[in-house]
Amino acid sequence: MNLDKYLKDKQMLVNGFLKGYIAQGKNGSCPRRLHKSMAYSLTAGGKRLRPILAIAGYEAAGGRAKNILPVASALELIHTYSLIHDDLPAMDNDALRRNKPTNHIVFGEAAAILAGDALLTDAFGMIAGANAKSEVLADIIKEVSYACGPQGMVGGQMVDIMLEGKKAKKSEIVYIHTHKTGAFIRASVRVGAIMAGTAKNKLQALTTYGENIGLAFQIVDDILDITGTDRELGKTAGADISRGKNTYPTVFGIDKSRKKAESLIENSIEALRGFDKKAEPLREIARYIISRRS
Ligand code: IPE
Ligand code: IPE
Ligand code: MG
Ligand code: MG
Ligand code: MG
Repeated sequence: MNLDKYLKDKQMLVNGFLKGYIAQGKNGSCPRRLHKSMAYSLTAGGKRLRPILAIAGYEAAGGRAKNILPVASALELIHTYSLIHDDLPAMDNDALRRNKPTNHIVFGEAAAILAGDALLTDAFGMIAGANAKSEVLADIIKEVSYACGPQGMVGGQMVDIMLEGKKAKKSEIVYIHTHKTGAFIRASVRVGAIMAGTAKNKLQALTTYGENIGLAFQIVDDILDITGTDRELGKTAGADISRGKNTYPTVFGIDKSRKKAESLIENSIEALRGFDKKAEPLREIARYIISRRS
């Protein structure tokens, strides 16, 4: 299959849906500056990986992309909120994101914090308004809130910040990576499967897939922070070392980290052995996660 085309097609679908969401906010129902700040980060680019994983998970389980668009796009609202907050001076203090000045640089810290709050809150409204049985939507909301809340992403971000400049134990590094990034990626795949009403054994296989690519994704992000350029990454390269972050490559070295990521990707593909060619996009996305340059 042609992964490039697949990714572009799905990005277009998600971007189209997000455009509608942004247009709605222009009706004067929210302060203009808040709306501008939210729209700025949402439309700044980005790979749309989490929505695409939800779509690909849904398709692997027999669904058709269009039906899951509101739920998939809601994941991008949450992801964008997490990036706006991650870049704040009190967090990673970054000035560049998606090849543009970060939200707080353009709109100020208060608007950046509030834009993040607004995106996160709207995401749950977007899921609740999707066209599916209310029990299914409740399961999806539970899944996403668990993955992105204190037991997931927010918890991972907390430990990432607490251990800045300190030497973390191996178990702490694994905790940071699996929580700040892995949990949401795993949930993105699961959301697709839950929406499709997948049988338990298949959901379990997709969960294993998501877990493996989730950790691999953050290991690769850490490697790229060292080996990539600002232009390729759309963010400030070398930021982790200068902030004293505990990353896989700073602790285990680039070679060992790459080997670990490779073996996680192999495991993720292996987990899909019971799936037919409808899971091919998921397999290709796994390979892409390790070969990507941005
Ligand atoms: C960056 O995520 C933040 C991490 C979890 C490492 P992405 O690399 O998916 O960022 P965008 O959405 O493409 O900008
Ligand atoms: C961020 O991890 C994870 C979340 C946003 C939850 P990083 O701090 O490594 O992400 P980048 O490198 O700034 O994109
Ligand atoms: Mg961070
Ligand atoms: Mg950061
Ligand atoms: Mg990073």
